[in-house]
Amino acid sequence: MSELAPSILSADFARLGEEIRSVEKAGVRMLHLDVMDGHFVPNITLGPPVVRSLRQATSLRLDAHLMIEDPDAFIDEFVAAGADMISVHAEACRHLHRTVTAIRSKGRQAGVVLNPATPLHVLDEILPEADYILLMSVNPGWGGQKFIPAVKDKIARLRERVRGLGLKTLIEVDGGVTRDNIAALAAAGADILVAGSSVFGGGDAGVAAADLIGRLKAGA
Ligand code: DX5
Ligand code: ZN
Repeated sequence: MSELAPSILSADFARLGEEIRSVEKAGVRMLHLDVMDGHFVPNITLGPPVVRSLRQATSLRLDAHLMIEDPDAFIDEFVAAGADMISVHAEACRHLHRTVTAIRSKGRQAGVVLNPATPLHVLDEILPEADYILLMSVNPGWGGQKFIPAVKDKIARLRERVRGLGLKTLIEVDGGVTRDNIAALAAAGADILVAGSSVFGGGDAGVAAADLIGRLKAGA
């Protein structure tokens, strides 16, 4: 079954521990951590110290999405901080194979991220080396944006390619995932659905996460 990865970007950072416990109780098994540096994307969020604190506060899998200019310079820090999964943007990596190999050599899962305008063929040579591919379904920088409809077909095309090559690569989708599209995106081929504002955007995060997980289970 496809999995929900709540993004803490829209959480109340002053109550992060509580927010995480409430989604944990709802059945969540991984957290998505949006790392932004104000250069690769026009926003600044969190870095290794927050990942380190979260590592001490929870045993959930920590999925670090690096939206930063020079990922190579920070891989070791995120590994040491306790990230289980680390994804880097193809658009930010001059030596993508080297970066992906470095992440895997530290025993962490390596992901390659594509912005909405970046074509799938960029993955041709790296697909067998990556543990997961993260398809952005908004332009990265902020939570709460609208899902870009064309990405649904991109998910399906990537699913076909992964299946055709007999690979186990997971497909993650990030941006504008809501209760109304989550099941359809899983049906299109997404294994991991990131949701920020749909989980932490207001009201009880545990109830929202349980609702989204229920929709993934029901396929509706
Ligand atoms: C966007 C981030 C996303 C974002 C998702 O740059 O990578 O993970 O937090 O937020 P929502 O679910 O609100 O679109
Ligand atoms: Zn993200």
